[in-house]
Amino acid sequence: MNYIELLNKRYACKAMNGQKIPQEKIDNILEAIRLAPTSSGLQPFEVFVITNDEVKSEIRKIAWNQSQVTECSHLLVFAAWDTYTEKRINYMFDLTNEIRGVKSEGWEAYRKKLLGMLPQQESEKNFQHAAKQTYIAIMSAMAQAYIEGVDSVPMEGFNQNELDKILKLREKGLRSTLLLPLGYRDVDNDWLFTLKKVRKPMSELVTIME
Ligand SMILES: Cc1cc2nc3c(=O)[nH]c(=O)nc-3n(C[C@H](O)[C@H](O)[C@H](O)COP(=O)(O)O)c2cc1C
Repeated sequence: MNYIELLNKRYACKAMNGQKIPQEKIDNILEAIRLAPTSSGLQPFEVFVITNDEVKSEIRKIAWNQSQVTECSHLLVFAAWDTYTEKRINYMFDLTNEIRGVKSEGWEAYRKKLLGMLPQQESEKNFQHAAKQTYIAIMSAMAQAYIEGVDSVPMEGFNQNELDKILKLREKGLRSTLLLPLGYRDVDNDWLFTLKKVRKPMSELVTIME
């Protein structure tokens, strides 16, 4: 299966059957998130993996009562950094130096540039920037999930402040951005998987400027 085939077949699963996903598949999906690209490589988010039924039920109440939240096997919560701090930036730059075993002048100059810019910015602006990175990572997760034969649905339909309270995210310097229920489709109740995928024509999307 090539990537275009995957994109045609993956869809936003509307009903799941509660079947459990083997841990190895979950590990691969999490690895796809870990490998997703992020701005300056800062990986400014964390992912929470929820399997507890009570917690899922609590979250469903503040997620438009969407059934996939409790029907899924694993519920992923993406939570972005609430701001960029010196500590957070230095951690990733130090890790890069450690893993690559070199300390390059250019890289250190870039560290200095970010340290002189990001921590001073308004935290809301920093959070919004960090949140964008989770949208890239979730696509990586959905693609790997499809490869694993696992259905998924990205979700913005929840009250972020309420979820932050349930998972005590603000205390950790995090704010929720997205949910990703992972599971297997309930063929009798999923109204979407038989319907044709709808996308606007290429001409509405792309402008060629030669
Ligand atoms: C950022 C984002 C948020 C979404 N939020 C929800 C949601 O809360 N509930 C839901 O059922 N689908 C949600 N969707 C799924 C979209 O409705 C779906 O991806 C879109 O209609 C295209 O359909 P397809 O993914 O099946 O191709 C979301 C998708 C994205 C990308």
